[in-house]
Formats: sequence, structure tokens, C-alpha cells
Amino acid sequence: HARLLGVVALDGPSGTGKSTVSRKLAFALGATYLDTGAMYRAVTLAVLRAEVDPSDPAAVAGVVRAARLTVGTDPEGPEIFLDGSDVGREIRGPEVTGAVSAVSAVAEVREQLVAHQRKLIGEALVSPGGMVVEGRDIGTVVAPDAGLKVYLTASAHARAQRRTAQDVSEGRAGDLDRTHADVQRRDALDSGRKVAPLRKADDAVELDTTDLGVVEVLTQLRKHVECRGLLV
Ligand code: DC
Repeated sequence: HARLLGVVALDGPSGTGKSTVSRKLAFALGATYLDTGAMYRAVTLAVLRAEVDPSDPAAVAGVVRAARLTVGTDPEGPEIFLDGSDVGREIRGPEVTGAVSAVSAVAEVREQLVAHQRKLIGEALVSPGGMVVEGRDIGTVVAPDAGLKVYLTASAHARAQRRTAQDVSEGRAGDLDRTHADVQRRDALDSGRKVAPLRKADDAVELDTTDLGVVEVLTQLRKHVECRGLLV
């Protein structure tokens, strides 16, 4: 089996199928997987638990500095622990989703998490191995030297539909209108923030997934990975 060597960076807004295809790509290529969105979600949960105002940058940064975050990189079951307890489910709930853009806009929060992410990537690459890293600023900030950068897009409608289907399949209430509004609100916040806004890296391959299924996206990604000579 061909294995991935080096880093594949997958960025884009929510609902583009990023998590699904990142995990499947990592699994298929014997690579590890890093969900940086889960890290921003977990520290947001810490902020909510501390009952700190998410719009108070100094207070938020203080909570995040004190939080102990443990991040797994297995594409089959990526785990995330906050202060020793598994928060994998809780970080997907509406409270965290509602506050995560504010927390992830704080410069010091990003500095801390980017440093943590680079450490995890460094550890993954010595094995020797490859890693698929997904987020908003992987190609632009976290791993500018990634062997392949992909920027996934899809229409806001398609993304809201996918997020709603994901909510339902994971046992949460699905509400298309509310999800559509939330997707647009978070896009605006994530793209408009001052520090490391969501944007396509100049050297990223752009892939519009509006009319593509998971298998088709994976086929395209594999093709790009092969073209870059990232398989051994
Ligand atoms: O991918 P996700 O929806 O789980 O990400 C949650 C939030 O975290 C998203 O609204 C923006 C933020 N985020 C970020 O700012 N930078 C990243 N690399 C990943 C996520």
C-alpha cells in the first residue's frame, strides 16, 4: 500500500466535507490526522466552563493558557481530552459552536494553538510518516511548507445541508434554516477576523465540492497527492 509522506493541508469553511475526506484520506494513506477545529472547540469549551465572557480577549487567553489539551491523531477515532476528560461529543454542541469564532479570533489563543499544532505535526513526521491536517489556516500559517495544500469550497446551501445531516446522524436536532444562518455567520467571522483569517493559500488547489460526493473528492485528492510525489 502506498503511504503518505509529509503534510497535506486541507482548509476551507465548515460543511465542505473537510473532516470526512481528511479522515478518509489519512486512513487510506496510512497517515495520521489532525483536526485543528476540534482544538479551537475544546478551548472554547474551557472558556464556557470557566464562565468567562468569550468576547473578553485577556480573560479568554488566560483560560486557554491554563487548559490542558490532549489531542489524538488516529484518523479512525481522533480523541480530544480537556483537563483529563474526553470532550469529543460536547465540543460539537450548539454552545461551543456559538462561541468558537469569538475564541478563535483571539491572537494569543491562536499563538498557543498554532504552537501546539506545529509540535504535533513535528512529532507525526519523524516516524517517518505523513499527516493530513485540516482547519482554516493550515496552508497559510500552521504548515506553509505542506507538500500539498487544498482549499475546499461549496455553496452555503450545500454546506448547511451537510451540517444538518451530520447533526441528525450524530443524534443532535437538525434545523436547516438555523444551520444555514450559523454557517453564514461563522464564515463572515472566520473570514473577517484580523489574525489568520480563513483564506485560500496562493499555492493551494481549490476544489468545489458542491456537486461532488465523498468518493469523487477523495479520488481528486489522491490524484493531487500522487502528482506531488508524496506517496512512498
Ligand atoms: O472545523 P470546525 O467547524 O470544527 O472549526 C470550528 C471553528 O474553529 C471555526 O469556526 C473556526 C475555528 N478554526 C480556526 O479558526 N482555525 C482553524 N485552523 C480551525 C478552526
